[in-house]
Amino acid sequence: MEQKKNIMDYDTVSLDDESSAVVIIDQTKLPGTTEIIALKTAQEIWDAIYLLQVRGAPAIGVAAAYGIYVLAKGIDTDNYDEFYAEFKKQKEYLDSSRPTAVNLSWALNRMEQVVLNNADKSVSEIKQLLKEESIEIQDEDIRVCKAIGEYGLTLVKPGDGILTHCNAGKLATSKYGTATAPIYLGQERGYNFRVFADETRPLLQGARLTAFELQSSGVDVTLICDNMSATVMKNGWVDAIFVGCDRVAANGDTANKIGTSVVAAVAKQYNVPMYIAAPTSTIDMNTPTGDQIKIEQRKPEEVTEMWYKERMAPEGVKVFNPAFDVTDHELIAGIVTEFGIARPPYTESFKEIFAKKEAA
Ligand code: MRU
Repeated sequence: MEQKKNIMDYDTVSLDDESSAVVIIDQTKLPGTTEIIALKTAQEIWDAIYLLQVRGAPAIGVAAAYGIYVLAKGIDTDNYDEFYAEFKKQKEYLDSSRPTAVNLSWALNRMEQVVLNNADKSVSEIKQLLKEESIEIQDEDIRVCKAIGEYGLTLVKPGDGILTHCNAGKLATSKYGTATAPIYLGQERGYNFRVFADETRPLLQGARLTAFELQSSGVDVTLICDNMSATVMKNGWVDAIFVGCDRVAANGDTANKIGTSVVAAVAKQYNVPMYIAAPTSTIDMNTPTGDQIKIEQRKPEEVTEMWYKERMAPEGVKVFNPAFDVTDHELIAGIVTEFGIARPPYTESFKEIFAKKEAA
Protein backbone atom coordinates (compact mmCIF):
# COMPACT_ATOMS: atom_id res chain seq x y z
CA MET A 1 0.00 0.00 0.00
CA GLU A 2 1.22 3.50 -0.85
CA GLN A 3 2.50 5.46 2.14
CA LYS A 4 0.47 8.61 2.88
CA LYS A 5 2.86 11.48 3.43
CA ASN A 6 1.23 14.84 2.89
CA ILE A 7 -0.84 16.15 5.80
CA MET A 8 -3.56 17.01 3.26
CA ASP A 9 -4.02 13.30 2.55
CA TYR A 10 -5.16 12.55 6.10
CA ASP A 11 -8.72 13.00 7.34
CA THR A 12 -8.97 15.58 10.14
CA VAL A 13 -11.78 13.50 11.64
CA SER A 14 -13.34 10.22 10.53
CA LEU A 15 -15.51 7.43 11.82
CA ASP A 16 -14.23 3.89 12.17
CA ASP A 17 -17.54 2.16 12.66
CA GLU A 18 -16.07 -1.31 12.80
CA SER A 19 -14.00 -0.53 15.87
CA SER A 20 -16.52 2.04 17.19
CA ALA A 21 -14.03 4.88 17.26
CA VAL A 22 -13.68 8.50 16.24
CA VAL A 23 -10.35 8.77 14.45
CA ILE A 24 -8.45 12.06 14.46
CA ILE A 25 -5.04 13.53 13.74
CA ASP A 26 -3.61 14.62 17.09
CA GLN A 27 -3.16 18.30 16.23
CA THR A 28 -1.13 19.04 19.36
CA LYS A 29 1.74 17.07 17.77
CA LEU A 30 1.76 18.88 14.42
CA PRO A 31 3.76 19.76 12.45
CA GLY A 32 6.53 17.52 13.86
CA THR A 33 4.63 14.26 14.17
CA THR A 34 1.54 13.03 12.37
CA GLU A 35 -0.11 10.77 14.91
CA ILE A 36 -3.52 9.28 14.24
CA ILE A 37 -5.50 8.40 17.35
CA ALA A 38 -8.72 6.47 17.93
CA LEU A 39 -11.16 7.81 20.53
CA LYS A 40 -13.56 5.28 21.97
CA THR A 41 -14.73 6.42 25.39
CA ALA A 42 -16.62 9.55 26.46
CA GLN A 43 -13.57 10.63 28.46
CA GLU A 44 -11.25 10.21 25.45
CA ILE A 45 -13.55 12.22 23.19
CA TRP A 46 -14.05 14.97 25.81
CA ASP A 47 -10.30 15.20 26.45
CA ALA A 48 -9.46 15.32 22.74
CA ILE A 49 -11.78 18.31 22.28
CA TYR A 50 -10.67 20.08 25.47
CA LEU A 51 -6.96 19.51 24.80
CA LEU A 52 -7.31 20.71 21.19
CA GLN A 53 -6.20 17.39 19.71
CA VAL A 54 -9.19 18.06 17.48
CA ARG A 55 -10.04 21.74 17.21
CA GLY A 56 -11.62 24.38 15.00
CA ALA A 57 -15.37 24.92 15.21
CA PRO A 58 -16.58 22.68 12.32
CA ALA A 59 -14.15 19.83 13.16
CA ILE A 60 -15.28 19.93 16.80
CA GLY A 61 -18.88 19.60 15.56
CA VAL A 62 -18.04 16.60 13.37
CA ALA A 63 -16.01 14.93 16.14
CA ALA A 64 -18.88 15.44 18.60
CA ALA A 65 -21.41 13.99 16.12
CA TYR A 66 -19.30 10.89 15.54
CA GLY A 67 -18.53 10.79 19.26
CA ILE A 68 -22.13 10.75 20.41
CA TYR A 69 -22.93 8.12 17.76
CA VAL A 70 -20.13 5.87 19.01
CA LEU A 71 -21.29 6.33 22.61
CA ALA A 72 -24.95 5.76 21.67
CA LYS A 73 -24.00 2.58 19.84
CA GLY A 74 -22.54 1.27 23.10
CA ILE A 75 -25.69 1.88 25.16
CA ASP A 76 -26.85 -1.59 26.10
CA THR A 77 -30.65 -1.48 26.22
CA ASP A 78 -33.65 -1.97 23.94
CA ASN A 79 -35.79 0.34 26.04
CA TYR A 80 -36.25 3.79 24.44
CA ASP A 81 -36.53 5.74 27.72
CA GLU A 82 -33.42 4.14 29.17
CA PHE A 83 -31.58 4.71 25.88
CA TYR A 84 -32.59 8.36 25.68
CA ALA A 85 -31.69 9.04 29.35
CA GLU A 86 -28.17 7.67 28.82
CA PHE A 87 -27.83 9.41 25.44
CA LYS A 88 -28.76 12.74 27.02
CA LYS A 89 -26.20 12.25 29.80
CA GLN A 90 -23.41 11.55 27.33
CA LYS A 91 -24.49 14.41 25.07
CA GLU A 92 -24.38 16.92 27.94
CA TYR A 93 -20.98 15.64 28.97
CA LEU A 94 -19.49 16.12 25.49
CA ASP A 95 -21.17 19.52 25.25
CA SER A 96 -19.26 20.67 28.35
CA SER A 97 -15.84 20.19 26.74
CA ARG A 98 -15.55 23.70 25.23
CA PRO A 99 -17.94 26.65 25.51
CA THR A 100 -17.32 29.10 22.66
CA ALA A 101 -17.70 27.24 19.34
CA VAL A 102 -21.43 26.88 18.77
CA ASN A 103 -20.85 24.00 16.33
CA LEU A 104 -20.36 21.67 19.30
CA SER A 105 -23.88 22.10 20.69
CA TRP A 106 -25.28 22.58 17.18
CA ALA A 107 -24.07 19.12 16.10
CA LEU A 108 -25.05 17.45 19.38
CA ASN A 109 -28.54 19.00 19.28
CA ARG A 110 -28.94 17.79 15.71
CA MET A 111 -28.05 14.27 16.84
CA GLU A 112 -30.45 14.50 19.80
CA GLN A 113 -33.22 15.54 17.42
CA VAL A 114 -32.78 12.20 15.60
CA VAL A 115 -33.45 10.36 18.86
CA LEU A 116 -36.45 12.55 19.74
CA ASN A 117 -38.02 12.38 16.26
CA ASN A 118 -37.83 8.58 16.13
CA ALA A 119 -39.23 7.56 19.49
CA ASP A 120 -41.54 5.10 17.69
CA LYS A 121 -38.59 3.16 16.23
CA SER A 122 -36.47 0.46 17.83
CA VAL A 123 -33.23 1.41 19.57
CA SER A 124 -31.20 -0.40 16.92
CA GLU A 125 -32.97 1.53 14.14
CA ILE A 126 -32.26 4.78 16.02
CA LYS A 127 -28.58 3.85 16.25
CA GLN A 128 -28.49 3.38 12.48
CA LEU A 129 -30.17 6.77 11.94
CA LEU A 130 -27.63 8.39 14.28
CA LYS A 131 -24.83 6.95 12.20
CA GLU A 132 -26.38 8.33 9.01
CA GLU A 133 -26.87 11.77 10.59
CA SER A 134 -23.27 11.97 11.81
CA ILE A 135 -21.98 11.08 8.33
CA GLU A 136 -24.31 13.69 6.82
CA ILE A 137 -22.95 16.34 9.23
CA GLN A 138 -19.46 15.65 7.89
CA ASP A 139 -20.54 15.50 4.23
CA GLU A 140 -22.38 18.79 4.70
CA ASP A 141 -19.26 20.35 6.20
CA ILE A 142 -17.35 19.57 2.99
CA ARG A 143 -20.09 21.01 0.75
CA VAL A 144 -20.46 24.10 2.95
CA CYS A 145 -16.73 24.86 2.97
CA LYS A 146 -16.55 24.51 -0.82
CA ALA A 147 -19.47 26.92 -1.26
CA ILE A 148 -17.84 29.41 1.14
CA GLY A 149 -14.69 29.12 -0.97
CA GLU A 150 -16.58 29.95 -4.18
CA TYR A 151 -18.22 33.03 -2.66
CA GLY A 152 -14.97 34.08 -0.97
CA LEU A 153 -13.12 33.86 -4.26
CA THR A 154 -15.36 36.59 -5.71
CA LEU A 155 -13.88 39.02 -3.15
CA VAL A 156 -10.27 38.72 -4.31
CA LYS A 157 -8.27 38.69 -7.53
CA PRO A 158 -5.25 36.75 -8.79
CA GLY A 159 -1.99 37.74 -7.11
CA ASP A 160 -3.69 39.24 -4.03
CA GLY A 161 -2.14 39.19 -0.59
CA ILE A 162 -4.37 37.53 2.00
CA LEU A 163 -3.82 37.54 5.75
CA THR A 164 -5.33 34.95 8.07
CA HIS A 165 -5.30 34.40 11.83
CA CYS A 166 -5.41 31.08 13.69
CA ASN A 167 -6.30 27.97 11.71
CA ALA A 168 -9.60 27.94 9.90
CA GLY A 169 -8.13 25.51 7.43
CA LYS A 170 -8.57 21.92 6.39
CA LEU A 171 -7.37 20.88 9.85
CA ALA A 172 -10.30 22.78 11.40
CA THR A 173 -12.87 21.19 9.08
CA SER A 174 -13.31 18.10 6.93
CA LYS A 175 -11.91 19.61 3.72
CA TYR A 176 -10.96 23.04 2.29
CA GLY A 177 -11.36 24.89 5.62
CA THR A 178 -13.51 28.00 5.82
CA ALA A 179 -11.13 30.97 5.69
CA THR A 180 -8.72 28.91 3.59
CA ALA A 181 -11.36 27.65 1.15
CA PRO A 182 -10.98 30.62 -1.23
CA ILE A 183 -7.21 30.16 -1.01
CA TYR A 184 -7.37 26.45 -1.92
CA LEU A 185 -9.88 26.99 -4.72
CA GLY A 186 -7.77 29.90 -5.99
CA GLN A 187 -4.71 27.67 -5.85
CA GLU A 188 -6.44 25.10 -8.08
CA ARG A 189 -7.28 27.90 -10.53
CA GLY A 190 -3.87 29.55 -10.70
CA TYR A 191 -4.64 32.66 -8.60
CA ASN A 192 -1.18 32.62 -7.01
CA PHE A 193 -2.20 34.30 -3.77
CA ARG A 194 0.46 35.44 -1.30
CA VAL A 195 -0.77 34.39 2.13
CA PHE A 196 0.38 35.76 5.48
CA ALA A 197 -0.31 33.46 8.43
CA ASP A 198 -0.28 34.99 11.91
CA GLU A 199 1.53 32.66 14.30
CA THR A 200 -1.42 32.94 16.75
CA ARG A 201 -0.19 32.98 20.33
CA PRO A 202 -0.36 31.29 22.72
CA LEU A 203 -0.96 27.90 21.06
CA LEU A 204 0.46 28.76 17.65
CA GLN A 205 -2.33 27.36 15.49
CA GLY A 206 -1.17 29.71 12.72
CA ALA A 207 2.47 28.60 12.83
CA ARG A 208 1.94 24.92 13.55
CA LEU A 209 -1.19 24.28 11.49
CA THR A 210 -2.03 27.00 8.94
CA ALA A 211 1.52 27.55 7.72
CA PHE A 212 1.97 23.76 7.63
CA GLU A 213 -1.14 22.90 5.66
CA LEU A 214 -0.78 25.80 3.20
CA GLN A 215 2.88 25.02 2.59
CA SER A 216 2.05 21.32 2.17
CA SER A 217 -0.46 22.35 -0.49
CA GLY A 218 2.03 24.45 -2.42
CA VAL A 219 0.48 27.80 -1.43
CA ASP A 220 2.87 30.78 -1.16
CA VAL A 221 2.66 31.32 2.61
CA THR A 222 4.70 33.61 4.85
CA LEU A 223 4.58 33.13 8.61
CA ILE A 224 4.48 36.30 10.70
CA CYS A 225 4.36 36.93 14.45
CA ASP A 226 1.06 38.28 15.74
CA ASN A 227 2.58 41.71 16.30
CA MET A 228 3.61 42.06 12.64
CA SER A 229 0.20 42.35 10.99
CA ALA A 230 0.33 46.17 11.11
CA THR A 231 3.67 46.12 9.31
CA VAL A 232 2.53 43.89 6.46
CA MET A 233 -0.66 45.91 6.06
CA LYS A 234 1.20 49.24 6.17
CA ASN A 235 3.54 47.88 3.50
CA GLY A 236 0.52 47.35 1.27
CA TRP A 237 1.04 43.59 1.09
CA VAL A 238 -2.45 42.60 2.21
CA ASP A 239 -5.52 43.05 0.01
CA ALA A 240 -7.98 41.12 2.14
CA ILE A 241 -8.24 39.31 5.46
CA PHE A 242 -10.08 36.03 5.80
CA VAL A 243 -10.60 34.48 9.22
CA GLY A 244 -12.91 31.82 10.60
CA CYS A 245 -15.24 32.08 13.57
CA ASP A 246 -16.45 30.11 16.55
CA ARG A 247 -19.74 31.91 17.05
CA VAL A 248 -21.33 34.79 15.18
CA ALA A 249 -24.03 36.73 17.05
CA ALA A 250 -27.24 37.90 15.36
CA ASN A 251 -25.81 41.43 14.90
CA GLY A 252 -22.63 40.12 13.21
CA ASP A 253 -20.30 40.43 16.23
CA THR A 254 -17.89 37.53 15.79
CA ALA A 255 -15.97 35.41 18.28
CA ASN A 256 -12.81 33.93 16.86
CA LYS A 257 -9.34 33.07 18.13
CA ILE A 258 -7.84 35.62 20.51
CA GLY A 259 -6.13 38.36 18.51
CA THR A 260 -8.66 38.45 15.67
CA SER A 261 -10.13 41.73 16.91
CA VAL A 262 -6.65 43.28 16.94
CA VAL A 263 -6.21 42.29 13.28
CA ALA A 264 -9.63 43.84 12.54
CA ALA A 265 -8.70 47.13 14.21
CA VAL A 266 -5.42 47.29 12.31
CA ALA A 267 -7.22 46.42 9.06
CA LYS A 268 -9.55 49.36 9.58
CA GLN A 269 -6.55 51.64 10.08
CA TYR A 270 -5.06 50.52 6.75
CA ASN A 271 -8.34 50.18 4.87
CA VAL A 272 -8.05 46.43 4.29
CA PRO A 273 -11.40 44.55 4.13
CA MET A 274 -11.91 42.03 6.91
CA TYR A 275 -14.01 39.01 5.94
CA ILE A 276 -15.36 36.29 8.23
CA ALA A 277 -15.82 32.85 6.68
CA ALA A 278 -18.85 31.47 8.49
CA PRO A 279 -20.86 28.31 7.89
CA THR A 280 -24.46 29.10 8.89
CA SER A 281 -24.00 26.46 11.61
CA THR A 282 -21.67 28.96 13.32
CA ILE A 283 -24.18 31.83 13.19
CA ASP A 284 -26.09 31.77 16.45
CA MET A 285 -29.30 33.76 16.04
CA ASN A 286 -30.12 33.05 19.71
CA THR A 287 -27.19 35.21 20.77
CA PRO A 288 -28.11 38.84 20.11
CA THR A 289 -24.64 40.43 20.36
CA GLY A 290 -21.04 39.53 21.10
CA ASP A 291 -21.53 40.53 24.75
CA GLN A 292 -23.49 37.33 25.34
CA ILE A 293 -20.85 35.00 23.85
CA LYS A 294 -19.13 32.94 26.50
CA ILE A 295 -15.36 33.20 26.07
CA GLU A 296 -13.35 30.17 27.08
CA GLN A 297 -10.61 30.86 29.63
CA ARG A 298 -7.71 28.45 29.43
CA LYS A 299 -4.89 27.39 31.70
CA PRO A 300 -2.13 29.94 32.50
CA GLU A 301 0.49 27.31 31.62
CA GLU A 302 -0.38 27.74 27.94
CA VAL A 303 1.13 31.21 28.25
CA THR A 304 3.89 30.65 30.76
CA GLU A 305 5.47 27.32 29.86
CA MET A 306 4.03 25.70 26.81
CA TRP A 307 6.75 25.95 24.22
CA TYR A 308 10.07 25.87 26.03
CA LYS A 309 11.63 23.25 28.25
CA GLU A 310 12.36 26.07 30.67
CA ARG A 311 9.60 28.23 32.03
CA MET A 312 9.24 31.41 29.97
CA ALA A 313 7.70 33.63 32.68
CA PRO A 314 8.31 34.21 36.39
CA GLU A 315 6.74 31.72 38.81
CA GLY A 316 3.45 32.97 40.24
CA VAL A 317 2.91 35.74 37.69
CA LYS A 318 -0.75 36.57 37.05
CA VAL A 319 -1.93 35.43 33.62
CA PHE A 320 -5.01 36.32 31.56
CA ASN A 321 -5.58 33.68 28.89
CA PRO A 322 -8.90 34.00 27.00
CA ALA A 323 -8.94 31.67 23.99
CA PHE A 324 -11.17 33.93 21.88
CA ASP A 325 -12.14 37.54 21.42
CA VAL A 326 -15.09 39.26 19.81
CA THR A 327 -14.67 41.43 16.74
CA ASP A 328 -17.24 44.18 16.57
CA HIS A 329 -19.56 43.86 13.58
CA GLU A 330 -18.64 47.41 12.52
CA LEU A 331 -15.13 46.22 11.67
CA ILE A 332 -16.36 43.40 9.42
CA ALA A 333 -16.75 44.07 5.68
CA GLY A 334 -18.61 40.85 4.96
CA ILE A 335 -19.56 37.46 6.39
CA VAL A 336 -19.12 34.73 3.80
CA THR A 337 -21.56 31.86 4.23
CA GLU A 338 -22.45 28.86 2.08
CA PHE A 339 -25.56 30.78 0.98
CA GLY A 340 -23.82 33.98 -0.06
CA ILE A 341 -22.07 36.99 1.42
CA ALA A 342 -23.85 38.83 4.20
CA ARG A 343 -23.11 42.57 4.26
CA PRO A 344 -23.88 45.12 6.97
CA PRO A 345 -26.36 45.57 8.53
CA TYR A 346 -26.09 41.89 9.48
CA THR A 347 -29.41 41.82 11.34
CA GLU A 348 -30.99 42.30 7.89
CA SER A 349 -28.65 40.31 5.65
CA PHE A 350 -28.76 37.25 7.93
CA LYS A 351 -32.53 37.12 7.35
CA GLU A 352 -31.87 36.72 3.62
CA ILE A 353 -29.15 34.13 4.21
CA PHE A 354 -31.40 32.03 6.45
CA ALA A 355 -34.33 32.40 4.03
CA LYS A 356 -32.09 30.93 1.31
CA LYS A 357 -31.09 28.13 3.67
CA GLU A 358 -34.72 27.39 4.46
CA ALA A 359 -35.57 27.26 0.75
CA ALA A 360 -32.62 25.00 -0.15
O1 MRU B 1 -8.99 27.08 19.89
P1 MRU B 1 -9.19 26.62 18.47
O2 MRU B 1 -7.92 26.21 17.81
O3 MRU B 1 -10.28 25.60 18.36
O4 MRU B 1 -9.70 27.93 17.72
C1 MRU B 1 -10.04 27.82 16.38
C2 MRU B 1 -10.48 29.10 15.77
O5 MRU B 1 -10.55 30.13 16.40
C3 MRU B 1 -10.93 29.02 14.33
O6 MRU B 1 -10.63 30.20 13.65
C4 MRU B 1 -12.44 28.78 14.28
O7 MRU B 1 -12.81 27.71 15.08
C5 MRU B 1 -12.93 28.56 12.89
S1 MRU B 1 -12.38 27.03 12.22
C6 MRU B 1 -13.02 26.92 10.66
